[in-house]
Amino acid sequence: MSVLSDHVLEEIRELPARYPQHRSAVMPALDLAQEELGYLTPEAMSEVASALQLDPGYVEGVATFYTLFHLEPIGKHHFYVCTNLSCMLRGSGAVVERLKAQTGVREPREVSKDGLFSYEEVECLGACEYAPMCRLDHEYHYDLTPARIDSLVNDCRLPRRYQSTIAAGDSEGETPSPLGGAISGRSARERAVLDAPGAQGRGEGATQPSPIKRPRTPRKKKAPDA
Ligand code: FES
Repeated sequence: MSVLSDHVLEEIRELPARYPQHRSAVMPALDLAQEELGYLTPEAMSEVASALQLDPGYVEGVATFYTLFHLEPIGKHHFYVCTNLSCMLRGSGAVVERLKAQTGVREPREVSKDGLFSYEEVECLGACEYAPMCRLDHEYHYDLTPARIDSLVNDCRLPRRYQSTIAAGDSEGETPSPLGGAISGRSARERAVLDAPGAQGRGEGATQPSPIKRPRTPRKKKAPDA
C-alpha cells in the first residue's frame, strides 16, 4: 500500500509535461509529497521516483540537498525566519523571540506540543527592503513586528486554514513569493518551491536566490518639440 494518496500520485505524474526536462518536476513533486505527509519518508521518496520514472537515488539526492525538504517531522505550520543582516538590523531577533513565546517552541525544528508549529532561521530570502520578513508555509510576510507574529500564529490556530487566502492574495503584507510575477506559467505552489529558502541548498556552494524583480516606473513621454 502506498504512503501517498492516489490523487497526489496522479498530480505528480502530470508534472513532467510542464517542463522541458522531465526531471525538473522532481522539486514540485517532492513538495506535493511533503505537503501531504508533513515530511519526506524514504517510502515517499521512492514513490515520487516511481511516479516520475526517475532513479530513486537522484530523487533522494535532491531531497537531502535542499533544506526546503524536511526529512523529519515539522509542525503543521513552519516559519522560515530570515535572520540575515538586513532582517537582523530591523528586528528579526525580536520576531524570533515572539514566535518562540507564542508557540512554545524553544529551538529551531522543535515541534510545538500541539503539533501546529515549528520554525527555522534562514539566510537572506531576497526581500531585504521589506525586512524583517519570513516565509510561513507557502507565503512571504514582510515588515514583521512582534504584533504581526501574534496575528499570524493566531490565524494558524483558526479552524479555517488561514492560507485559504493565498489564492485571493488579499491579506496584509502577504504575497506568494517575491519572484512570483517574474516566473510565468507556474502555479503558486511551484513558484514558492523554486523561490523557497531551502532551494538554496544545504552547505557551502549553495546558490543564493535571485534578487527581487520590481516593476519599473513607466517613463513619462517627452513632449513633442513645438
Ligand atoms: S536579509 Fe532578510 S531578506 Fe535579505
